[in-house]
Amino acid sequence: MGTPVEKEISSLRQQILDHDYRYYVLARPSISDEQYDALMRRLRDLESRHPELASPDSPTQRVGGQPTKEFPTVTHAVPMLSLANTYDEADVRDFDRRVREALGSGPYRYVCELKYDGVAVSLVYRNGMLIRGATRGDGVQGDDITPNVRTIRSIPLRLRAATPVAGTVEVRGEVYMTRTDFDRMNREREEAGEKLFINPRNSAAGTLKLQDPRVVARRPLHFVAYFLRRESGDAAGHFEHLQLLREYGFPASDQARLCASVDEVIGYWKEWEAKRDSLPFDIDGIVVKVDSLRQQDELGAIAKSPRWAVAFKFTSRSAETTLTGITLQVGRVGTVTPVAELAPVFLGGTTVTRATLHNEDYIRELDIRVGDTVIVEKGGDVIPKVSGVRKEKRPRGTRAFRFPGRCPVCGDRIERPADEANYYCENSDCPAQVKGRIEHFAGRGAMDIEGLGEAAVDQFVSAGLLRTIADIYDLHRHRAELVKLERWGEKSAQNLLGAVEQSTKRPLARVVFALGIRHVGAGVAQLLVQNFRTMEALRDAPAEELERIPGVGPRIAESVARYFRDRHNRLLVERLSAAGVTMAEHKPAAAQTQPLAGKVFVITGTLESMSREAAKDKLEALGGKAASGVSRNTDFVIVGSEPGSKLAKARELGIRILDEKEFLRLLSGANL
Ligand code: IVH
Repeated sequence: MGTPVEKEISSLRQQILDHDYRYYVLARPSISDEQYDALMRRLRDLESRHPELASPDSPTQRVGGQPTKEFPTVTHAVPMLSLANTYDEADVRDFDRRVREALGSGPYRYVCELKYDGVAVSLVYRNGMLIRGATRGDGVQGDDITPNVRTIRSIPLRLRAATPVAGTVEVRGEVYMTRTDFDRMNREREEAGEKLFINPRNSAAGTLKLQDPRVVARRPLHFVAYFLRRESGDAAGHFEHLQLLREYGFPASDQARLCASVDEVIGYWKEWEAKRDSLPFDIDGIVVKVDSLRQQDELGAIAKSPRWAVAFKFTSRSAETTLTGITLQVGRVGTVTPVAELAPVFLGGTTVTRATLHNEDYIRELDIRVGDTVIVEKGGDVIPKVSGVRKEKRPRGTRAFRFPGRCPVCGDRIERPADEANYYCENSDCPAQVKGRIEHFAGRGAMDIEGLGEAAVDQFVSAGLLRTIADIYDLHRHRAELVKLERWGEKSAQNLLGAVEQSTKRPLARVVFALGIRHVGAGVAQLLVQNFRTMEALRDAPAEELERIPGVGPRIAESVARYFRDRHNRLLVERLSAAGVTMAEHKPAAAQTQPLAGKVFVITGTLESMSREAAKDKLEALGGKAASGVSRNTDFVIVGSEPGSKLAKARELGIRILDEKEFLRLLSGANL
């Protein structure tokens, strides 16, 4: 059936969907990124030449459409109920007794699943095609967020069943973000001075509410299915439904287990309570469901929750306590972070007395005041944070918090630059900054000096051996004092001094990153070095000149220029230079006509303004090289829509990432 082109398009779509499934659901890819990209390229090409064969379930159509102003409201065909909570064994045995009594006679089984801490969504498929994605809302009505949901790769645009699925199918599940992705995103936001997300759940929720699906597509959202409703079907139980969901192409409650008794349920709960931190995502309990669909019907629902299911929460990792004060902590680039001082409270196995408050806006938004009863939360491996206020318990006479004007460590003025969430201590001699800077300088990704970790830096700073990063290269003069310090001896001192000496050979980009200039991460450092090639040239560049580099915005430019205006910093760099630290890019300067000479580019995803071939030609005309795979030799990764795994790889390796706009600016700038 169909013309050869139709056949090829349909085969390509099927192949790509299969590979998506292998990659995103099974986590077992069977082809390389390059091969995948080639299939995608071929499909796009055919589709653009045959617009009449376009189809919304094509893998090329995940990100589409224009930003919406408001999400349409939709009514759920069957209300999305919530679950009653239980907190201990006795509660769960009560639940089990109610189930047994209501069912009268006959055996029943439970399915236990993890309770994912994300955002519930409902997906509706008609004749196998995804036609709607919606939030839970109030359970009866939610927001239609179809364009956003379509960008999530673990959600099939078309059900993968062997035989086509007729009629309407509703799949419900949770959209979530892993802790690692969440941490990475927040680190990037922090570096850029942007507002931070509170936890993975909030950031998944915030992302789903974004108006522009293209932005959503770039955020690492995942989906897990835990509920299926079909117009017709012959499955007897929920456990079978989970299997069916997997056949349809969803990740579906991988850890689900059939339990024959409430004792097994309790066993499952204990097991996962102990193992929860080993999962890449947050869970806050388990969900217990009566397996048989017939028995589920029989049990029915009361008010807003079903009688056939219950949430069995883990011991809380949040607690209430009194906020006794707000103090300030100073980081290595002078970032001033407010810290909650708390009346001691036992939480998740430890006594908590301090928690982060993020920044001034966070305190203002929640209206957190000294004297308040606050809610403190502790996630997987993160530091505790204040997540809410019990306003009804607020004592009289509290006052809104005003951010102090001075650094608590050195007493210098602190300032909050426009458009930034943080205050900064501007005194680079501030003792709090000194230790932080040295640690960063010696750390991984920077000068990588083995043996000079947090504990050693602390020791050396306290002993007066280190005051600035340049002092590191004078350590050999203090060998006698060094070996006398606790935990140090001839051998370890020798190793450390060797590592210090080794570090002088690190490439210039590492050195620039190691300086710890505000807003200059590893990627930006590389970009600066590519353009200036020597520390001297970088030092003397005015902000306007820095800003001309694609990928360097005004905030970064001003920060770099300001760093080098400071006399102390100039002196510091001179001392590093005298110690033999790399001060110039080793590669020869590029010829004028070949401004991108020696630079290796990798393109991932689809560019809007030109084909991949055209982009390659342009790069090569300017002396650049287009490679297919990301490695340590890659200088830039250019990211179009629907990027592949190369983007993640680039991030992992700290390679500079350019979006299409930046890439075009690079091309035009390089032409000048
Ligand atoms: S089943 C009627 N299964 O918990 C059953 N829910 O308070 C409806 N949740 O809104 C839900 N993991 O967001 C179910 N394995 C799981 C779940 C789960 C997390 C969330 C879901 C729901 C809330 C219920």
